[in-house]
Amino acid sequence: MALIAILPGDGIGPEVVAAARQVLDALDLGLTFEEAPVGGAAYRAHGHPLPPATLDLAKRADAVLFGAVGDPEFDNVAREHRPEQAILGLRKELGLFANLRPAKLFAGLEDASALRPEVAAAIDMVIVRELTGDVYFGEKGRGTTADGLREGHDLMRYDEAEVARIARVAFETARTRNHRLCSVDKANVLETSQLWRDVVIEVSADYPDVALTHMYVDNAAMQLVRNPGQFDVIVTGNLFGDILSDQASMCAGSIGMLPSAAINQDRKGLYEPIHGSAPDIAGQGKANPLATILSAAMMLRHSLGEADAADRIEAAVTAALVAGHRTPDLGGTATTQDMTNAVLAAL
Ligand code: NAI
Ligand code: MG
Repeated sequence: MALIAILPGDGIGPEVVAAARQVLDALDLGLTFEEAPVGGAAYRAHGHPLPPATLDLAKRADAVLFGAVGDPEFDNVAREHRPEQAILGLRKELGLFANLRPAKLFAGLEDASALRPEVAAAIDMVIVRELTGDVYFGEKGRGTTADGLREGHDLMRYDEAEVARIARVAFETARTRNHRLCSVDKANVLETSQLWRDVVIEVSADYPDVALTHMYVDNAAMQLVRNPGQFDVIVTGNLFGDILSDQASMCAGSIGMLPSAAINQDRKGLYEPIHGSAPDIAGQGKANPLATILSAAMMLRHSLGEADAADRIEAAVTAALVAGHRTPDLGGTATTQDMTNAVLAAL
C-alpha cells in the first residue's frame, strides 16, 4: 500500500493541502497518509525547518505532498534556520533533479491570463526544468579584483550525465503528449549550452518518435508570449527553466492554478503548488486550492501509477471552473472549502 508523506508547512500550505487531502480521500485508492511538520511550523515545534523525522518520512514515503513554507516571522533569522531551507533540503536529499511544470489554460479562464484570450487559449505545455545543477549549484564566491573592485561569481556547469537524465525525462514526457520537444539553451554563446545541445541530440536517437527542435532562450522568452501554443514540451537548464516557467505560469492565469512535480530517477516525487505560503491571505479561507489539488493529480500519475484517478481529478477541476466557481484570485468570492466542495461534487 502506497505511503504518502503530507507536509503542509506554513501560511496557506495547511489550507490547500487539507483541500487536496479531501479529494484524495474521496477517490478511495487505499493510500496511507502520514503527516509531519516542515518549515516555520517545524522550526517552532522542533527548532529546525526540516527535522530528521520529517526527512525520514519523506525518504520512506512513495511520494510527498507539500504545501508551502515561509513565514514573515523568520525574515530576519540566519539563512540556515529559514523555513525555505526545508524545500531546498528535500530536493537535495531526495535527488529531485527534474521539475515538471505543466502550464495550461483551463476552460473559462482566458480572462485571467496576461495574454490576449485567443493567444492564451492555446497554452498547453510542460516545462521540464533541471533542478539540481547549473549556476545555482556551481562553485560560488565573492572576492576582489586586481583593481580592488568587489567581484562575485557563480559557475555555470553541467556534465553529460546530468543533461542526459533530464533529457530522458523530457523525451518520456513528450511521448505521453504530442511527441514534440523543444530544447532551450544559449548554445550560440555558452559552452554549457553546446554540451547540453550535443547530449540532447545524442539522447534523441532513442526517441525517433519525438520531434526535437532547439531554441535560444531569449527567443523562447519572446515566443512564449507571442505564440505559446507552439510549445508541447520544453526542456531546459535550472536558471533558464526558473525564469521561463514563472513567465509561462502568468500566461496561463493565476499562480493559484499551477501544480508542479519534482521527481528523481525512481519516479519518486515531491508534489507542490508553484506558489508560496501567501501570508497576506493565510487563515482567511481565500486561498485557491486548485494548484495543490492538481499537484495531487500529478502525484497519482507520476509516482503511483494511478493515471485514471489523475484524469478524474483534472476533469473535476475543469468541471468546477466551467460551472463558474471562482476563488478571489480568479475574480470570484468562493472560499477554499467552497472550491474544494465544487471539485468533490464534480468527482
Ligand atoms: P506567494 O506565492 O506566497 O504569494 C504571491 C501572491 O500570490 C500573494 O499575493 C498571494 O496572496 C497570492 N497567492 C499565492 N498563492 C495563492 C493561492 N493559492 N490562492 C490565491 N492567491 C495566492 O509568494 P511570496 O508572497 O513571494 O512569498 C511568501 C512566502 O512563501 C515567502 O516566505 C517565500 O519565501 C515563500 N515561498 C515558498 C515557496 C515554496 O514553499 N515552495 C515558493 C515560493 C515562495
Ligand atoms: Mg522561480
